[in-house]
Amino acid sequence: MCCVASLNPTEHPATMPQQDESSNNPAVMAYNAVLVLFDVLAFFVKSVYIIVRGLVEMVMLPPARDVSGDIVLITGAGHGMGKNLSLQYAALGTTVVCVDVNEKTNQETVTAIKGKGGKAFGFT
Ligand SMILES: NC(=O)c1ccc[n+]([C@@H]2O[C@H](COP(=O)([O-])OP(=O)(O)OC[C@H]3O[C@@H](n4cnc5c(N)ncnc54)[C@H](O)[C@@H]3O)[C@@H](O)[C@H]2O)c1
Repeated sequence: MCCVASLNPTEHPATMPQQDESSNNPAVMAYNAVLVLFDVLAFFVKSVYIIVRGLVEMVMLPPARDVSGDIVLITGAGHGMGKNLSLQYAALGTTVVCVDVNEKTNQETVTAIKGKGGKAFGFT
């Protein structure tokens, strides 16, 4: 006696995957094709728009925000980038709160800002 089970699904219709009848319907297939085409078209239109907008913004920079009167806190204000940022923000009319672990260099930045007529406070 043979006891090997058949793996052929045609011999067991109950185990066959159910076919969606609408997938063979030409109207449904056409509708799906239109959806895919629309998605692809929308993708290309959006891509071109984003690329063109990026190129335009590279050439025509947006207007700089007016920060005069704002209060800016800069950490590491005693040296390097922090010091440069502090001096530049002070020149734009902001009140600069300078913070640094090095009290001496931090105070030098505060003094430099005040010497140019700017407003600054130092914290260590
Ligand atoms: N210089 C560059 O080209 C560059 C590039 C990318 C990133 N960074 C980073 O930017 C930061 C500043 O760079 P930099 O070149 O101006 O450094 P810098 O060493 O010239 O100045 C750092 C300042 O921060 C102060 N400081 C250190 N620890 C502090 C703390 N815990 N609280 C407050 N102040 C503190 C120091 O006393 C010093 O005055 C660093 O973290 C650096 O790694 C620098």
